[in-house]
Amino acid sequence: MLNYSRLPPAVEQILEAAHWAPSGDNAQPWTFEVQSEDLFDVLVRIEAGNVYEYRQGEPTLISAGTLLENIAIAAPSQGKSAGWQYQGLAGNVHRIRVQLTDDRAAAGHPLLGQIERRSVDRRPYQLRALSQGDKRALSDAVGPEFSVEWHESLAARRKVAGLTRLATDIRLRIPETFDIHNHIVDWKRTFSPDAIPSRALGLDAMTLKIMRWTLAKRARTEMANRMGSPVFAGLQMDFLPGIFSAAYFAFRLKQRASGPADEASQLLRLGQAVQRFWLTATKQGLALQPCLATLAFAHYGRAKEPFTVSAAERRKAEKLAERADSDLGDVPSLRFIGRIGHPKAQLQSRSLRRPLAELVREA
Ligand SMILES: Cc1cc2nc3c(=O)[nH]c(=O)nc-3n(C[C@H](O)[C@H](O)[C@H](O)COP(=O)(O)O)c2cc1C
Repeated sequence: MLNYSRLPPAVEQILEAAHWAPSGDNAQPWTFEVQSEDLFDVLVRIEAGNVYEYRQGEPTLISAGTLLENIAIAAPSQGKSAGWQYQGLAGNVHRIRVQLTDDRAAAGHPLLGQIERRSVDRRPYQLRALSQGDKRALSDAVGPEFSVEWHESLAARRKVAGLTRLATDIRLRIPETFDIHNHIVDWKRTFSPDAIPSRALGLDAMTLKIMRWTLAKRARTEMANRMGSPVFAGLQMDFLPGIFSAAYFAFRLKQRASGPADEASQLLRLGQAVQRFWLTATKQGLALQPCLATLAFAHYGRAKEPFTVSAAERRKAEKLAERADSDLGDVPSLRFIGRIGHPKAQLQSRSLRRPLAELVREA
């Protein structure tokens, strides 16, 4: 295995682009084992016990797919093309082998310049619809394997915002998320390499102050919850952003995979499609925010999984599952949802990434 200081220049450039991939809570759950100048493995960890990692870590596999798409987009700039193969799960680590091949005809990829520019935007957007051209470019970017559905009218956006608000209400009230939320918010930095800067949460200064105070102690969070703070958070984090969007979008499977390895590969390809969609949106000047917690809690509610000790929140998840089925249609075949629109202003704060040197496993 090659350590960071001995990385072949082409591999280093490709991994540099790869590691800008988005991941839930900016967890960056991957490391790289570089075998030679044409071969490396991506190791992807599933965080056991994280309530957001529903269906055995589905969001993490989707993130890994976005990383594979970055590799595919960056490889031509190094005169290579990239192919990957899923190798399986050992313990809580998925292994994916990436093979680079010399490609003399390789030309720079049109989305390469968007990889570092792409960033989640959790603020309200403009009240302006997507053009037919934008929608066509976005759907074309996804490709034929998955379908994208749009929820664009005000009534449709209100319905989906109601679902995401209910999911926020659940996730802020259950004790299982307290430590997660505490660790992922970076209160100090405007640009955070290993967490989410508080200023990128899309909340106003007063709400952030209250949130920082309550998150410092479990008892304070419980008290704030009793006083209805998740209701106000849902208004700011879901309802208003949902109204102030061009649309919600939902990625649906056209066909079910047949076994665990097939399922993992399909989720990786889905992540690739999500990344092409997101990079195309960035190129068109559009902002985007995933809303995966909604799918997570709807899944728990439908499967009646005991994801929390709170019986009241389990019942709420069952209600969410019913409402999501009727508003979005057949939720079990949905794999990714989010909102999209024209940003009101440039982002002032965002997550960055850990240095690549920390992600390359030493020999
Ligand atoms: C699979 C996946 C699920 C995500 N879910 C959410 C979500 O539910 N809400 C949200 O605000 N951001 C979500 N994100 C966005 C990440 O938090 C974000 O990509 C990460 O913090 C890095 O920030 P950046 O995209 O600005 O580089 C998700 C990203 C991925 C890849």
